[in-house]
Amino acid sequence: MCGIVGYIGKKQAFDVVINGLQRLEYRGYDSAGLVLIQNETFLMKKTKGKVSDLREISQDLDKTAQMGIGHTRWATHGVPNDVNSHPHLSNSGELVIVHNGIIENYSAIKTMLTEKGYHFVSDTDTEVLVNLIEFMQKSSNLSITDAVRFALNEVIGAYAICVVDKKEADKIVVGRLGSPLAIGMGKDEFYIASDASPFVEFTKEAVYLDDGEMATITKEGVDVRKIADNLQVEPLVQQLQFDLDQIEKGGYDHFMLKEIFEQPKSILDTMRGRLLSSEGKIKMAGIFDHRNRILKSNRIIIIACGTSWHAGLIGEYLIEELARIPVEVEYASEFRYRNPVIYPTDIVIAISQSGETADSLAAIKMAKEAGAFIYGICNVVGSSIARISDAGSYTHAGPEIGVASTKAFTAQVTVLTMIALELGKQTGELSNEKFHKHLVEMEMLPKQVETVLKLDKEIQEIALAYKDATNCLYLGRGYNFPVALEGALKLKEISYIHAEGYPAAEMKHGPIALIDENLPVVIIATKGHYEKVVSNVQEIKSRKGKVIAIVNPGDTEVRAIADHCIEVPAVEEFLSPIINTIPLQLLSYYLAVLRGANVDQPRNLAKSVTVE
Ligand code: AGP
Ligand code: GLU
Repeated sequence: MCGIVGYIGKKQAFDVVINGLQRLEYRGYDSAGLVLIQNETFLMKKTKGKVSDLREISQDLDKTAQMGIGHTRWATHGVPNDVNSHPHLSNSGELVIVHNGIIENYSAIKTMLTEKGYHFVSDTDTEVLVNLIEFMQKSSNLSITDAVRFALNEVIGAYAICVVDKKEADKIVVGRLGSPLAIGMGKDEFYIASDASPFVEFTKEAVYLDDGEMATITKEGVDVRKIADNLQVEPLVQQLQFDLDQIEKGGYDHFMLKEIFEQPKSILDTMRGRLLSSEGKIKMAGIFDHRNRILKSNRIIIIACGTSWHAGLIGEYLIEELARIPVEVEYASEFRYRNPVIYPTDIVIAISQSGETADSLAAIKMAKEAGAFIYGICNVVGSSIARISDAGSYTHAGPEIGVASTKAFTAQVTVLTMIALELGKQTGELSNEKFHKHLVEMEMLPKQVETVLKLDKEIQEIALAYKDATNCLYLGRGYNFPVALEGALKLKEISYIHAEGYPAAEMKHGPIALIDENLPVVIIATKGHYEKVVSNVQEIKSRKGKVIAIVNPGDTEVRAIADHCIEVPAVEEFLSPIINTIPLQLLSYYLAVLRGANVDQPRNLAKSVTVE
């Protein structure tokens, strides 16, 4: 996790670095720091807290320097405090580093360096790395580039780093393994960042370092090399496909709210050029080009974490129902460590908004080694998972900044629905007529989501009645069981209200014991399993629980007994997760706002989990 930013060129580096850190703050936000490099001196500021605190304490800083690096931290080693904040200096004070990731063998290196007389002021693994670089540099009389390369060959773990040496203060040396790093290519100026958002306003050209690559960046250019053998690499310059306004709040109070309201567009963008109902076709090159391999496989394994895992569960229901191909859904973190059976004929679908989640990446690598075919569903173009996959489909949701995933989730479900429909057609499970009917139904989703968003005020009022709740239960059946899980996750991560999602029928096997007049229960009572859900609502009401139900127009039974009903358009059950998720996102959002929580940056979380 964490965000790093660097700049070398002709502008004032301070503005580029601090504004860039602000944009990367979704990646980590327990401390922030920066160093400006001028006339072979380091002007450094760092503090526990937010980038706004760093801005505050930097008021007296001489800001004329044209080179600098910065960091916004998500602590792994050492509590968030001023000393553990990055940047970190080497013992001589000549080297400075910012680091995203974990040096797993830091302890052994620290012992070795301590024996050589090095001392450490922080508890971080990062300070160990900068001193290892210094040790190598001094003991073998190396340039900073060579010293970084030698040191990186010794460390185990994950990193994206920027290093500057006072004695060679015309360059920034960067390297990556497991944590992302992009270089923005300007004219006589270069930007470095964990993603392209800090520099998209200045340049549309970016080079994404691959794992195991490093670069030496001066005003004159960028020299990319392999860390293992120093072989020069021709950098691949990519064109950025987003603009500044896509990563700003655009008049909304929070990114999360903006992203919730963007869903009609993000779903449409995800279907654009793929769902062609007038031609009776789904056009997804990734699926089409590899259809023989996919159709020959005996099963699909879906791998993901968090919200993306919930999308995966919906994918299981979709693919098994529409295409009759067996699907297993796995938490990446469990899959990678439990010695699973993987056949070379398996198709692994990896779902990840960021495309950088460490557990998902490791699970995919394992499956790939076992010969499985990897199909990536990522939102971030050019991300690690997208690159390692054999084929895939991007969710075209646009940049998602709010830590709580919203539009990326519905875009993932949109992609999975199209995949399931296309596979259903290929396997012959869906007749042409049925396939075509489903395309027409699916095409209506963006408009139907727009209708749901009009319930905004109504949901805000319902939230008011539950702002002091301490627990909450979410129930759903069939396709809407994963929606219940997602509703509960959204609530707990941003409002800190404890919430659990359950299949509605499982309530009587345990959670029913929790029900009393203080427990709000959110229940999805739309088309599909309706009668059974009505019975569940009865069971809750007879124990005095409070019921907030998601219903379809024309509903009378649930309406007669529920405390609150949120009425959403009726759609086919396989499309209902997309519709039914929206009111749950809004409910969590308003509950969090009413409780004064920091919606876009919930405590202890980070957007991109690049550590295990
Ligand atoms: C979503 O609201 C969460 N913050 C989190 O569960 C997230 O979905 C998870 O970390 C997976 O991220 P990814 O999709 O980028 O791989
Ligand atoms: N491991 C480093 C630390 O704890 C870097 C963490 C990060 O990526 O923010 O400081």
